[in-house]
Amino acid sequence: MSQWWTRAVFYQVYPRSFADSNGDGVGDLDGIADRLDYLADLGVQALWLNPVMVSPMADHGYDVADPRDVDPLFGDLDALDRLIAAAHARDIKVTMDLVPNHTSSAHPWFTEALADPSRRDRYIFRDGVGDRPPNNWLSVFGGPAWTRVPDGQWYLHLFDSAQPDLNWDNPEVFDDIEKTLRFWLDRGVDGFRIDVAHGMAKSPDLPDMALTETGLLRSRADDPRFDNDDVHEIHRFIRRVLDDYPEAVTVGEIWVHGNEQFAKYLRSDELHLGFSFRLVQADFDAEEIRAAIDNGLAAAALAGAAPTWTLSNHDVPREVTRYGGGARGVARARAMALVMLALPGSVFIYNGSELGLPDADLPDEVLQDPVWERSGRTERGRDGARVPMPWSGTEPPFGFSSSPDTWLPIPADWAPLTVERQLADPDSVLALYRRAIGLRAGRTEFDGDDIDWIGATTFRLPGGLICALNAGTTPVALPAGEVLLVSGPLVGGKLAPDTAAWLV
Ligand code: GLC
Repeated sequence: MSQWWTRAVFYQVYPRSFADSNGDGVGDLDGIADRLDYLADLGVQALWLNPVMVSPMADHGYDVADPRDVDPLFGDLDALDRLIAAAHARDIKVTMDLVPNHTSSAHPWFTEALADPSRRDRYIFRDGVGDRPPNNWLSVFGGPAWTRVPDGQWYLHLFDSAQPDLNWDNPEVFDDIEKTLRFWLDRGVDGFRIDVAHGMAKSPDLPDMALTETGLLRSRADDPRFDNDDVHEIHRFIRRVLDDYPEAVTVGEIWVHGNEQFAKYLRSDELHLGFSFRLVQADFDAEEIRAAIDNGLAAAALAGAAPTWTLSNHDVPREVTRYGGGARGVARARAMALVMLALPGSVFIYNGSELGLPDADLPDEVLQDPVWERSGRTERGRDGARVPMPWSGTEPPFGFSSSPDTWLPIPADWAPLTVERQLADPDSVLALYRRAIGLRAGRTEFDGDDIDWIGATTFRLPGGLICALNAGTTPVALPAGEVLLVSGPLVGGKLAPDTAAWLV
C-alpha cells in the first residue's frame, strides 16, 4: 500500500493566527487542539504547524533559539503532546516545521560565537574586504546578507540578521539536527516540513551573485546562495534518520528552477515530498494553469514521488487576492480549489483558504514582517496573508481570542467570512471545501496517478472524474457526464467564466 502522504489533504496551521486559548492575542497550541473537530469535519488528514519552537520571533518562529522546546507564546511540550494525542485520536497526523538553514541569533551557539572567535565554525563568519562585506550577497528579505560584528568579522544571513546561516560543513550541525529530528519523532510527530530545503549548502568559495531582484520567488537559476549540489548530502542524512520512523514524512520547501533540479530533492534517499509552487506562481490564465499542472506532475514523475499542490501559504499573497480580489477573486479561488483537489497527489491548504479570506490591508504601524524594515519600507511583506482566522460573532476579534488586541488586527468587514457564518451557508467557500474534500476521499473516480487533458483546461483522471475549468470570459458547454460539484452557478446549463465543475 502506498504511504499516507502520497494522497493526503494537509492543512497548514499558522499557529499565531489560528486560535488563541489564553487571551494574549496570539494563537497557541491549545487553541489548535480546541479546534480539531473543525479540522476533522473539514476532512483533512494531516496538519503542518509553522514553527512553534523557542524563538525571539524576529521572523515569527523561523528564528529558532532552542530547536527542542516549545516557545511559551505557543504553550509548552505538554501542550504539544496534548495536541498530538487529540489529533491522532481523530486520525489526523501532525507535522512540524524544521528550520535547518539558520538559527536565531539568540541560539546559544551564536552567543558563544560572538563572544569567542574560535567558536565560530558552526556559522559562516568571514573577514571582509576592507570595510566591505566578504561578497555582494543580498538577504532574501532585502539589504545585505552580511552583518558585521564588533571585532570586525562578518556573518552570513540569507534572511534577517537575527537568522545567522549555519555552516553545514561542520559535523556538529549534522549531529544536532539528528537530535532534533529524533526528539520530535519520538514524541509522536508524524514528520516535518523542511524550511529552505534548497538552502543550507553554499558555494564553497562564496562567489558574488548576479544582482537582480531578490525575494523568495525571484532568485535566479545560477544564484550561488541556493540549490548547491552539496545540499543533497544533507537531505540524505535527514532521510537516514527518517527511515527509522517509516510512517513519518518530510516535505521540502524547494524554490528551484526547472523540473530536473526539483526532482533531485525527491530521489528515493532524499525528501519524500517537495512543495510544488507552480500553482502559486500561475496567474488565473488557461495556459499558465495547464503548464503549472503539467510541470507539477512531470517534476514529481521524474523522481517517482507523489505530486503536491498548494494555492498559497504564509509567504505569498492569498489566492483570492492574487486572482484579483473581490467577487471575482473569490470565484476564481473556488474554481482553483476544485482543480487542485481533483489532481493526483497531496494538497496543502493554508488556514483561511477554506474561508476564501483575502489579504488584509494593514496600516504601516502594525506591520511586523522583517521584510518591511529590511526593504527600507518599500515592500510591505507577508503580514496581510497572516491575519488571524475569523471564527464567530459580528466584530473583531471574531472568536479568535478573548482579547480585542490581536497580534495583527482582523478587518471588521470580515464578519461575513467567519466559520460560524459559512457553516450556516450551503453556498459558502467552506461548504465547497468540505464537500470537495469529502468527495475526493470517498469516491473511486478520483483514483489514479496521472491526468488526461480532454480540453484546454479540462482533464480526466484514470478513475473517471472529469474536472472542467472555465478560465475564459464566456460560458462554455459542460463535458458529458453527471455533475458532482460546481464551484459556482451554471448559466443556462453552461459553465460560467471563473468556474470549475466535477463530473463523473
Ligand atoms: C521560509 C519560510 C519563511 C521564512 C524563511 C526563513 O521561506 O516559509 O516564512 O521567513 O523561510 O526561514
